[in-house]
Amino acid sequence: MNAAELAETARQLVGAGKGLLAMDESNGTCNKRFAALGIGQTEEKRRAYRKLLITTPRLAESISGVILYDETIRQKTTDGTPFLAVLEKAGILPGIKVDIGAKAMAGHPGEKITEGLDGLRERLAAYAGMGARFAKWRAVINLGDDHPSRACIAANAQALARYAALCQEAGIVPIVEPEILMAGDHTLERCREVTEETLHAVFDHLYEQGVLLEGIILKPNMVLPGLGYSQQESLDGVAEATLTTLLRVVPAAVAGIAFLSGGQSADLATARLDAINRLARAPGSHLPWPLVFSFGRAIQQPALTVWQGDDSCVAAAQKLLIQRVRCDRAALTGEYEAAMEHT
Ligand code: 13P
Repeated sequence: MNAAELAETARQLVGAGKGLLAMDESNGTCNKRFAALGIGQTEEKRRAYRKLLITTPRLAESISGVILYDETIRQKTTDGTPFLAVLEKAGILPGIKVDIGAKAMAGHPGEKITEGLDGLRERLAAYAGMGARFAKWRAVINLGDDHPSRACIAANAQALARYAALCQEAGIVPIVEPEILMAGDHTLERCREVTEETLHAVFDHLYEQGVLLEGIILKPNMVLPGLGYSQQESLDGVAEATLTTLLRVVPAAVAGIAFLSGGQSADLATARLDAINRLARAPGSHLPWPLVFSFGRAIQQPALTVWQGDDSCVAAAQKLLIQRVRCDRAALTGEYEAAMEHT
């Protein structure tokens, strides 16, 4: 592990006033999103869609890195140019999802444990050889009457830490993603408690595994009430809860924080990120890390809906994509305004 190189890669990803585009849906998840819009679920359609995303003109003005999936990192544009070469030319760093999914956790009904550690050292070496500079592993924590259990939080935190250590050994910056799901009717306070407990456990395990904090990116959820809870929170309320929680548990040495969107609508995710960054820049705040985005659905959904699998809609979809990431970039400095949605 070269500590200076890891820290430099992390800085390039989160310290440049840009964010990340998560486009690492597994084939199953990508097919589900295609099916919902009547798009064919073939490798060729997935390739055409991912090509649309990465060839969007001026994407690199707002996006520092994209997270790819195993199928995608090997794909090429129609003229035979590898996707990786397209990204390199644009100055966008390629990353790779390396977990193999959240599976039912034995003995813990309703809870999940993310798998993928077996053989990970070899897979990381292969991805590093292809040019991947960073990786992602997502742990999923469900809120319910009886969960999360300590066992679920601990097992997921340990897996995240072992993954992160293996990434750094391979010279790859790990994105550490413990996601508290929005599904459920829990209050904002409950999400705050569980987010805090989970992040505590994650940083304990990262410490135990000897992970270099300057060479990781944390990808957390925002602190939000459950989707089914009757009272949704104001932007300022979300910003306060999210920032307070992060300040309590995330060490200052961490390179940066890149939020997931978790199923929020695109404009709401942007508005909340903007509120968080406004609060972070208020007089008297001294935030140790950049707060950026690593959105999947909240960046892609408007473009995917317009594309519909139709070649003649590529330009219109790319226009929406670029507008979306420009709004997200503005949210990094608290300069997003709803009017920007219509420009
Ligand atoms: P969403 O922003 O759609 O939650 O996706 C981000 C991601 O990478 C999930 O692992």
